[in-house]
Amino acid sequence: MQSILVTGGTGYIGSHTVVELLKNGYKVVILDNLCNSSPKVIERILKITQPNDQLTFMEGDVRDTKKLDKLFAEHLFEGVIHFAGLKAVGQSVSHPISYYDNNVYGSLCLIRAMQKAKVKTMVFSSSATVYGEDAPVPYKESMPRGKTTNPYGTSKAIIEKILADQCIADPQWSVAQLRYFNPIGAHKSGLIGEDPKGIPDNLLPYIAQVAIGKRNELSVFGGDYPTPDGTGIRDYIHVVDLAKGHLKALKKIQPAENNRQEHKQGTGENIWNLGTGQGYSVLDVISAFEKASGVIIPCTTKPRREGDLAAFWADANKAKQELNWQAQLTLENMLMDAWHWQQRNPQGYN
Ligand code: NAD
Ligand code: WQD
Repeated sequence: MQSILVTGGTGYIGSHTVVELLKNGYKVVILDNLCNSSPKVIERILKITQPNDQLTFMEGDVRDTKKLDKLFAEHLFEGVIHFAGLKAVGQSVSHPISYYDNNVYGSLCLIRAMQKAKVKTMVFSSSATVYGEDAPVPYKESMPRGKTTNPYGTSKAIIEKILADQCIADPQWSVAQLRYFNPIGAHKSGLIGEDPKGIPDNLLPYIAQVAIGKRNELSVFGGDYPTPDGTGIRDYIHVVDLAKGHLKALKKIQPAENNRQEHKQGTGENIWNLGTGQGYSVLDVISAFEKASGVIIPCTTKPRREGDLAAFWADANKAKQELNWQAQLTLENMLMDAWHWQQRNPQGYN
């Protein structure tokens, strides 16, 4: 049985990925400092995957090098999926040092511990934001990392570069840089989902909180973009499809059992977009949510949000060809599952 370390595994995307790992027979150790997640996630994951004794939770920070060394000494990890990090774009502008410390320094600590333990396989949570503000759409993996517009995006670009350099320095390293587009939705059980602290930054949690009556109305940021209906276009992807993409990527970059020499295909740096290849506008999402939930979302058009791009979506062909992975779930599935999660958990995990 393969043992995988999942940093940030109690978070939104991490928890859905842990479910898929357990369902597929992996042994999982989660390391999470719970700065943006609830310990209740563990019991929820186990409710979905039970009976399951293959999950271990360790509360801790990726910057705690002693804890990391101990963890790597105690377990024979086949690979690491690295979700741990801070992700609020606006907060990263006001607290850049926290973002570089958590994301960049945290990743360096993890990479060092892996190096010591000779674990050389990592799936990294990157973001479409690394394409930068001037990239033409759709975004393709062959495009260079672009001009990022905030410390969060810059932290992701720096970590990608560090991992790419490590792959050059040690050709036995294999890394998947997974560039996520806009993950939304929740597990169909309604047991795990997105639970932002405070006022949500992102569109879907905000819409869901308006629908449940926690917030009065949605602000639509910008109605004058050069898009068909004037609102921003994004490539929304169901979090369960995204989670499944991690398993495909992990399989691709893992060495053939006990024989690294035979493992050529996925070694080095591999970049894959995880998106659907299809863009939807803010107004598309609102009306699809209303249809899926039967609830009307009051909204007002407001000025553009600083730093927002008009429209971007993925070229999803590389993951399809190389990983045999393609998003399966529709926008309707994403919104129905998000609504189911919100209804079952009006206060999130609390
Ligand atoms: P999340 O905040 O729900 O999950 C991140 C988890 O990491 C949390 O459980 C948090 O407690 C933990 N964590 C943070 N810093 C840590 C540290 N120093 N040590 C240990 N644990 C720590 O976020 P998410 O949406 O699940 O995102 C997961 C990853 O995917 C992040 O790296 C994020 O930047 C990246 N990503 C997210 C999105 C998105 O829209 N959600 C898009 C692209 C990339
Ligand atoms: C989507 C659209 C908004 C909220 C961010 C990060 C990105 C990635 C995912 C991590 C935009 C509009 C939103 C609202 C609105 N995270 N909107 N009213 O900005 O595409 O991406 O999260 O890597 O790096 O930047 O996602 O959900 O915030 O916005 O009109 O209350 O919804 O303007 O067009 P975004 P989002």
